[in-house]
Amino acid sequence: MRILAFAASLRKGSYNQKLVAVVAEMLRGIGADVDLAEFRDFDMPLYDYDLQTAEGLPPGAEAMRKRIEAASALVIGSPEYNYSIPGILKNAIDWISRARPMPWRGRSIYLVSASPGAIGGIRGLWQTRIPLEGCGALVFPDMFALAHADKAFDADGALTDAGARERLQNQVTGFYRLAEAVAPLCCGEETPRKQEITRALEEESRIQPPSKGGE
Ligand code: FNR
Repeated sequence: MRILAFAASLRKGSYNQKLVAVVAEMLRGIGADVDLAEFRDFDMPLYDYDLQTAEGLPPGAEAMRKRIEAASALVIGSPEYNYSIPGILKNAIDWISRARPMPWRGRSIYLVSASPGAIGGIRGLWQTRIPLEGCGALVFPDMFALAHADKAFDADGALTDAGARERLQNQVTGFYRLAEAVAPLCCGEETPRKQEITRALEEESRIQPPSKGGE
């Protein structure tokens, strides 16, 4: 199963990108085909309805849409900014949400965060669930927040704490198994069952007018 993984940080040496790389290796170890991306691949302007109406999705959002659609599941590493979701991630979720069919819908998502602080960014992840679930994504119940991230990695990018590694591996395995189980129903071929599930997950798309681009 193909999984798109990226961190919502543009910073060189991003702790969240390092954590996502660790998750990507764990997923590969249990058979996943991981597309490890960088947020720079998805450079996009602030959401602008007029721009969308005139030109559709901008190239960076279109690139993200294609990579999401090529995957059945995602791993998103997100910093916590002021107790919440960072603007660049919310902006990307908003752009992508204008494409039809809604790319987020039915895709399993595992959320992780890393912070030099003592809480690890879990408060931001709770905020991040809201727009993703509103768009019909299946956000995995467990989330992983890495505290003291500035001291958590060795020179090769591995997590130094064995307990943290074990907890992460358990969550990653649980996520992969569940995503694998639902992918044929939610991201597979068009079947009557998939159409039924799609209808049940598309509340938010009904509220929003259809996209002028990315259809
Ligand atoms: C932060 N940081 C931060 N950390 C945290 O644990 N809780 C928070 O609410 C915030 N708020 C916040 C706001 C803004 C605007 C910035 C720039 C930073 C610190 C943040 O965790 C730290 O910069 C991380 O290194 C960001 O993640 P990356 O870029 O290393 O992946």
